[in-house]
Amino acid sequence: MIKRIGILTGGGDCPGLNPAIRGAVYRALDYNYEVYGIEEGWGGLIKGDINLLSLSEVREIVDRGGTILGTSRLNPYKIEQGVEKVLESIEKFKLDALVAIGGEDTLGVANKLYKEKKIKLVGAPKTMDNDLSGTDYTFGFNSSVTKAMEAMQSLQDTGRSHRRIMVLEVMGRHAGWVALFTGLASGTDWTLIPEEKIDLEKMCQHLKEVYRKNKHASIVISEGVILPGVDTGKEELDQFGHMILRKRGVGNLLADLIKEKTGIETRHAVIGHIQRGGSPTLFDRILGLRCGVTAVDLIAQGKFGYMAALKGNKVIGIPLEEAVSKLKTVDKKWWELAQVFFK
Ligand code: F6P
Repeated sequence: MIKRIGILTGGGDCPGLNPAIRGAVYRALDYNYEVYGIEEGWGGLIKGDINLLSLSEVREIVDRGGTILGTSRLNPYKIEQGVEKVLESIEKFKLDALVAIGGEDTLGVANKLYKEKKIKLVGAPKTMDNDLSGTDYTFGFNSSVTKAMEAMQSLQDTGRSHRRIMVLEVMGRHAGWVALFTGLASGTDWTLIPEEKIDLEKMCQHLKEVYRKNKHASIVISEGVILPGVDTGKEELDQFGHMILRKRGVGNLLADLIKEKTGIETRHAVIGHIQRGGSPTLFDRILGLRCGVTAVDLIAQGKFGYMAALKGNKVIGIPLEEAVSKLKTVDKKWWELAQVFFK
């Protein structure tokens, strides 16, 4: 019988995490579950940093960015005795089940712990990258793209005034969803995403043409893009084996290339972590709340190894395996849509 559950948020933070925590804590009350907040993702279970989470602590967090629990990119499988320490904390704090809120890394660990150690856990899908399979959207994405869209519009204003080409670099790591949606929603003249082959000559020709007609142009680039013929050096890896892309400055490199190839004054900006902060949008608040509630329902139903997922208008449970087995990258249909606007 479930009496006590633990909640953690892992990986990069994003708007929507607090609504998800709130949803889970409120729903837990309906089942008379006691809720414990695990600090800083899997790190809290390794260090035993776990505290009772009351309704009053989550009452006013629906509009707050970040996560009140804190987060980390700690991977228990990469730390000596990491998994053993996780199991010890679960035992020590008498946690009958866990809600892991995260993206492919956090939920990948959750899936492994469920399969290998039979830990009773469920997941909820967050990531500003929107690259988690099995769910139509992850919470965090809508808020982040909204911020990037606004940043692009600001760049376009100044680019228009100064007769420049403006480049915006956005996050998204291996998936181009953030760049794609930013480009579509702000009306950029070109978009570069990691999934698609890059033809710099064609792009610069096009930008020149757009500039000739409009006296300005804009382009959004995803941080994970590899520019042909440009050496970005050796990247550092995190505990999940992902490149730490912050140091590459692909937006800067692209702006230099455009300037060189077109002869047009070009400026760039990197929105970076600004994109991950701030109040969640309406969409992310509702999705976060619904996923938090559904995650606890999954526990009550004994559906361990499952994750709350958005499918159409419904939030349902799907196997974690389905969510983490393959990264959801931009498909051809979406790319075709983006290209409609490269005119
Ligand atoms: O995973 C989300 C994400 O925001 C990526 O888009 C980005 O590459 C990465 O996190 C940045 O991570 P950090 O906050 O560790 O610099």
